[in-house]
Amino acid sequence: MERDRAQITSERGEGDDGRTTSDRDRQTEASRTDESVIESRDLSVFYGDDQALQGIDMSIPERQVTALIGPSGCGKSTFLRSINRMNDLIDVARVEGELYFHGKNVYDDDVDPVALRRKIGMVFQRPNPFPKSIFDNVAYGLRVQNKDGDVERKVRVALERAALLEEVEDRLEESGLDLSGGQQQRLCIARAIATDPEVILMDEPASALDPVATSQIEDLVEELAREYTVVIVTHNMQQAARISDKTAVFLTGGYLAEFDDTATIFENPESQRVEDYITGKFG
Ligand SMILES: Nc1ncnc2c1ncn2[C@@H]1O[C@H](COP(=O)(O)OP(=O)(O)O)[C@@H](O)[C@H]1O
Ligand SMILES: [Mg+2]
Repeated sequence: MERDRAQITSERGEGDDGRTTSDRDRQTEASRTDESVIESRDLSVFYGDDQALQGIDMSIPERQVTALIGPSGCGKSTFLRSINRMNDLIDVARVEGELYFHGKNVYDDDVDPVALRRKIGMVFQRPNPFPKSIFDNVAYGLRVQNKDGDVERKVRVALERAALLEEVEDRLEESGLDLSGGQQQRLCIARAIATDPEVILMDEPASALDPVATSQIEDLVEELAREYTVVIVTHNMQQAARISDKTAVFLTGGYLAEFDDTATIFENPESQRVEDYITGKFG
């Protein structure tokens, strides 16, 4: 796993052995395992004196969809942001414990958070395209990395993987802001995909969208998990049940109450509190 270590500790896209992500893809293609790609160990997050997460231990499996559910304010977004160090951008936030990405603690001093966020991309609740053309939105990350050789092809591949290409291929020079909400969200997914990430974090990516756009995003999430590890926050339990392989249930105060196969969480949870939450008795 040296390769990934190199990738998040330097600005270059390749590790010492010179292998690229496509080598990895060929090697592990279609092999869906429970191998974990992200592991939190005793992870706590504080905002000033307030503790938002209480010593979370979780292993997130590769190329599956892991859903984070739980009542509002229980720390789902905080946990998601801790994975790619987005909490660094919040002045009062402080992280304790460890968060491993392929066995490397992302909070080590030698990790470059910008390189990390290219490997672990993020999509937010409100689609936030740049005020640029559709093409430039997707090309942005490639240009920042000076990877603009073959940019045309990479943009098309990213748009295709985000299930948007067909709808926009005749108007790539139009503003991303002129797209519908659902299209904007898929554009943001394409933008995240363009830099060749391994993990895509999504924070309630469909909650601002209408039902049709929501179901397109849900289909896309399942599709993306063939290629990427997806971690998705949702307040919609039916959505979690529909699209995820694993579900983590957080409860008020920032506790991880249960983490298991989605079917187990929804059909036969271990704890009474989780059962009460799932069946709508509170939250
Ligand atoms: N930027 C912030 N500054 C201070 N407190 C925050 C901040 N973001 C979240 N919190 C607090 O941390 C707790 C967890 O919030 P959050 O992770 O957003 O929960 P969720 O996503 O489950 O609704 C809440 O009590 C919230 O008020
Ligand atoms: Mg949230």
